[in-house]
Amino acid sequence: MLRTTVTLLSTLACIRVVMAHSWIDILYATDPNGTVVSEGYIRSYQGHLDNDETYHLIDPTSTTSLCMTSQQSVTYSSLYPMLTARPGDNITALYEENGHVTVDQLPPDMQPHPGYYSWLWSSTNGTQLTTVADMLNVDNLLAGPFSFDDGRCAVGNDNRYGRTAQPCLSTFYLPEDIEPGIYNLVWAWHFPKIPPCEENAPVEFYTSCMDIQVVDSL
Ligand SMILES: *[C@@H]1O[C@H](CO)[C@@H](O)[C@H](O)[C@H]1NC(C)=O
Ligand SMILES: *[C@@H]1O[C@H](CO)[C@@H](O)[C@H](O)[C@H]1NC(C)=O
Ligand SMILES: *[C@@H]1O[C@H](CO)[C@@H](O)[C@H](O)[C@H]1NC(C)=O
Repeated sequence: MLRTTVTLLSTLACIRVVMAHSWIDILYATDPNGTVVSEGYIRSYQGHLDNDETYHLIDPTSTTSLCMTSQQSVTYSSLYPMLTARPGDNITALYEENGHVTVDQLPPDMQPHPGYYSWLWSSTNGTQLTTVADMLNVDNLLAGPFSFDDGRCAVGNDNRYGRTAQPCLSTFYLPEDIEPGIYNLVWAWHFPKIPPCEENAPVEFYTSCMDIQVVDSL
């Protein structure tokens, strides 16, 4: 009986993993004063739409595509353009935590385990990161890893930390010495759900793929 209860509780606990995902909704370049000088989006952005923006990699191999199909080419609309920035600019990206920071209850401690993310890039004008092997290559690391929880974000006002609803912020900067060109960037989130609620829990990643057009001046 005890065993049944424990099993049931842990099953319910697993269900408390919020069924929404996370991706980069918008990027800004800022000047040293923190003033926004430009804004941009991920490839093929359609709006804040889970089905269109989520790319979930479960137990990927080194040859698994790093980007969802619609984000495998440099594709933007006039409504949701590519970010333009200068060498050395600070970049701020926004994503929703969607409960993975403030709502999830994962056994055995019934806490969230939101994991961490990194920014990867090709670092050469016009080249692409294409596979999970590219993600795991430290030469492609631009910034991170950073905690998925930025210490202030919440998807709603009703949450365990008493936070006010606001997106999570990620800030990093472009090297000062890069040439003008188009640079491919990938936001890669490792959501480990550790401790796992199931044995042999899968390795889970999510990615957003985008580009930054680097120019000498804006
Ligand atoms: C980037 O942001 C940091 C922290 O706010 C600031 O000290 C630095 O001057 C900024 N650099 C640029 C190039 O905007
Ligand atoms: C920072 O803001 C001040 C006051 O608005 C402005 O004079 C200055 O040019 C700004 N610096 C940069 C690097 O944009
Ligand atoms: C960047 O690469 C593209 C080809 O991918 C080329 O047309 C362009 O001239 C390059 N830009 C710079 C500034 O080198």
